[in-house]
Amino acid sequence: MNDRCIRSVRARRVWDSRGNPTVEAEVTLHDGSTGRAIVPAGASRGTREALDLRDATPRFGGLDVLRAVGHVNDEIARAVTGCPADDQAALDQRLIELDGTPAKTRLGANATLAVSMAAAHAAAASLAVPLYRYLGGPDATLLPMPQIQIFGGGAHAGRRVDIQDFMVVCPGARDFGQAIEWTAEVYRSAGALMQQRGSRFGVADEGGWWPDFATNEEALEALSAAIEGAGFVPGEQVAIALDVAASEFGRQGRYTLGLESRTLDSDGLIELLLRWLDKYPIVSIEDPLGEDDQQGFARFTQAVGHRLQVVGDDLLVSHAPLVREAAAIGAANAVLLKPNQRGTLTETLQAWQAAKSVGYAGIVSARSGETEDTTIVHLAIGWQVGQLKVGSFARGERMAKWNEALRIEERLGARARFAPASVFGRSRSIA
Ligand code: PGA
Ligand code: ZN
Repeated sequence: MNDRCIRSVRARRVWDSRGNPTVEAEVTLHDGSTGRAIVPAGASRGTREALDLRDATPRFGGLDVLRAVGHVNDEIARAVTGCPADDQAALDQRLIELDGTPAKTRLGANATLAVSMAAAHAAAASLAVPLYRYLGGPDATLLPMPQIQIFGGGAHAGRRVDIQDFMVVCPGARDFGQAIEWTAEVYRSAGALMQQRGSRFGVADEGGWWPDFATNEEALEALSAAIEGAGFVPGEQVAIALDVAASEFGRQGRYTLGLESRTLDSDGLIELLLRWLDKYPIVSIEDPLGEDDQQGFARFTQAVGHRLQVVGDDLLVSHAPLVREAAAIGAANAVLLKPNQRGTLTETLQAWQAAKSVGYAGIVSARSGETEDTTIVHLAIGWQVGQLKVGSFARGERMAKWNEALRIEERLGARARFAPASVFGRSRSIA
């Protein structure tokens, strides 16, 4: 038995940024190294995600996780004790087989992912290297382009507006630190603008300003004004990225914009988005159509995919087979990677490998219910994904991630690389 074999696994219930229960796991190796990780939770979830197991009791709105915690402390701990933590693929395979269901419905993806991530942390600690270095080796030097939310919306803001994320990216920034600085200016500028309008009412679930707007487009106007107000030319240094999260307001090709009291079919929604693309410097759109509207997704991608990043989140749920299916019909050209959509690091990595093999870009993403856990930052850099989305520029659970990436950028020093601006233009080879 090598020193990096798992000696013990322990889970506990901790709490996320919405005050909901979630699972933390701690893995200890024979050499005494430990690793710890906390699983996040989504609010606008794709129906094909692996199961976030919650207790069937009324406590905490039915969201308690004592069953998932129990599964880690009991079945999972027994099954993985003695396994080498530094063979992630074998460990994750054991978790997958132990659960035995396609969507982790028996043990819960929150139970399996907590252990999968904690084991990676323990192995990195045992080797005395940072997690990104453990995952990616000496080549793991690519800092991600951040997608940072300025206004929240959709399920993260009481559906005050229909579109979920109004974000900025900084294609003109020379490095990660500068992208963060520029975004800080835009975030402040947007806050001042909301103050002036008399509509600064705090922040939404991911820290973006509360979206007090009469139409969805008004939020885009405000975002452009905030970019200008911060002294940038929209579309040059700083551009716009959206997460429409259309599955949240549309089923079977019928999309109801509650804020605007109107219902559109797929082509109507596509037309609306194309109009916005003409008027605003948008370089990336996530889930423009619903998860059950693959054909609409494909039509949208065919129309604009050559000049725009079209991201599948609910459509692809970080699942390699769905990435390959989407590629076969030309739906999306980038995949959002959320480890808790699958329940192990290995399966999430497989989705990224599938994406690369079909020429798709990738974005590692947090969930709307987060914690101080910064594992995803290390995944983005370790796997050299090139983009990272963790919500806005406020709230500790968001800032913990941006600050961790800044530390890594500093540590890498002259070796640090930054995602090229053309990541959004589909002009560079991303294979
Ligand atoms: P969620 O939202 O974490 O609430 O699912 C994030 C997203 O849709 O990207
Ligand atoms: Zn999304």
